Amino acid sequence: MRAATCGPANQSMTEATVPMLDLREEYRLIAPEIDRAVQQVLASGRYILGEEVSAFEAEAAEYLKVKHAVGCASGTDALLLSLMALGIGPGDEVITTPFSFFATAAVISRLGAIPVFADIDPRTFNLSPHAAAELITPRTRAIIPVHLFGQPAELNALRELADRHGLFLVEDAAQAFGARWQGRPVGGWGDVAAFSFYPTKNLGAAGDGGLVTTNDDELARRIRILRQQGVSSSRYCHELMGVNSRLDEIQAAILRVKLAHLEDWNARRNQIAHRYTQVLQDLLGCQPPFVAPAATHIYHQYTLRTPYRDELREFLAVAGVETAIYYPLLLPDQPVYQRGGYPFRCGPLIEARRASREVLSLPIFPYLREEQVERVVTAITSFFRQKAAVDRQESVLTAANM
Ligand SMILES: Cc1ncc(COP(=O)(O)O)c(C=O)c1O
Repeated sequence: MRAATCGPANQSMTEATVPMLDLREEYRLIAPEIDRAVQQVLASGRYILGEEVSAFEAEAAEYLKVKHAVGCASGTDALLLSLMALGIGPGDEVITTPFSFFATAAVISRLGAIPVFADIDPRTFNLSPHAAAELITPRTRAIIPVHLFGQPAELNALRELADRHGLFLVEDAAQAFGARWQGRPVGGWGDVAAFSFYPTKNLGAAGDGGLVTTNDDELARRIRILRQQGVSSSRYCHELMGVNSRLDEIQAAILRVKLAHLEDWNARRNQIAHRYTQVLQDLLGCQPPFVAPAATHIYHQYTLRTPYRDELREFLAVAGVETAIYYPLLLPDQPVYQRGGYPFRCGPLIEARRASREVLSLPIFPYLREEQVERVVTAITSFFRQKAAVDRQESVLTAANM
């Protein structure tokens, strides 16, 4: 029997690839504002923890409806500072998702604590509160859900679970600035939350940056001290064992410019996602993202799932559409954990493993043009139509051979 293959038709070699992201275009669109902001910082002579950082922290806190926002050097550090401020340390267990970026688990291990990986909800890809509940022991101190791809985890169920067992709830909101659960922004549901401003994030700096948010005055005080080598009131007096993790003035100035555009940008991401879903929901074998009724998704990523993931990815590459796989390998399967030396525990991870084989993220960013969006949906439609035709042909052949 002839091998069943699909290929995109009429691909013009001159058409530029639709990229996953185009940061040059973002800069081009707001260049005068960014240039002015950066120039002002350079002229000020104040480059670390100055007025721009304070102003950004205040604006971010207001936007996220939290009492405190503390800038730091990266999303990873925001998580690390959060756990340090909560006093998480050797032997403590922290329940989290296996289906995330490495940093979510790495910060737990770095502090000598034990990541405990619980399965995900297959519809949202987020940590399942039921799976997390199954793994609570007397050593559990905290739960870290990730608002993956920009969709909040089930925050009321997780908050209730944490409260019932006297655990801290730490939101990994690295991918979700502006996302909401029951209309309330992420970042204020947990005892503490961590955001990343890595350039590819929906709110991205021109370099690394991060933010910790909390409504707890004492936690905020500790985080501010911990980010500056544990220095509290007087200059060379170190109260806590801290780190050097500060947000630069230049990054804060850039983030202030971008924060003013964020509502529009997140709305445009939603518009693109809506168009993708409109087309994808009718394609056999293709499952567009499920959005929980309580969630306001900001589509940091638009991630579909299909059992034909690898074939679809190849097809789209030939059709000039970039895609990405977040995440192909679960956290406990990473070599650094498999080699031993960093203890961890896992529940059954059936859904997370299936997701890692089936997910595919499509280009989504606010300045993706209509014709680019249409090229993506046309290429995907043509893949699934060809696939359905080949499947029909194969079932006819199989029936004839029986
Ligand atoms: C879910 C998640 N957590 C943590 C991080 C770490 O953020 P950063 O790269 O700013 O250290 C990222 C960023 O890539 C992330 O996606």
